[in-house]
Amino acid sequence: MKLKPIYVFLILSASFLWYSFSIYIKPLSTKENTTFNKKMASDGQLVWQYYNCQSCHQLYNLGGYLGPDLTNVISNPDKGEKVIRAMVKSGTKQMPAFTLSDNEMDLLVEYLKSTDASGSADLRKLKINNFGMIEEGERK
Ligand code: HEC
Repeated sequence: MKLKPIYVFLILSASFLWYSFSIYIKPLSTKENTTFNKKMASDGQLVWQYYNCQSCHQLYNLGGYLGPDLTNVISNPDKGEKVIRAMVKSGTKQMPAFTLSDNEMDLLVEYLKSTDASGSADLRKLKINNFGMIEEGERK
């Protein structure tokens, strides 16, 4: 059977539209119970950039490799907000202490809540679906 070019064109266009539509209606994150203030989180990103935390830390596995990845530090039961505040304020032998205002600190914490809500740094928790997209869930 020989397909007319116009049908090939229509089938490809329909597939393109269907696929684009299905991507746009898909929620960005499957995580529940993670609430954060969007405005504060985006200001917090500026704090993160201003103090150059990225030079030593990774988010979503990208960044400097001196310190640990901080994407999910907020939801880590052993770390969380208290550890973030303490680390930034006091530092350690390997991490310098920073003098942030209370407001900057709150914004930074909000930003790390947003990274936690939008991704996972642990590659073992990500799987690749049939469309080649990355999803959350245990890898097989
Ligand atoms: C000069 C490199 C460097 C910079 C810049 C830096 N850190 Fe760190 N950070 C480290 C290292 C190294 C550790 C691990 C320290 C240790 O365990 O003694 C660490 C640990 C941490 C931890 C604890 C994480 C965990 O899982 O134990 C947090 C939270 C943290 N840093 C936040 C920040 C924030 C926020 C900034 C920016 C304001 C920042 N760091 C900037 C090097 C850095």
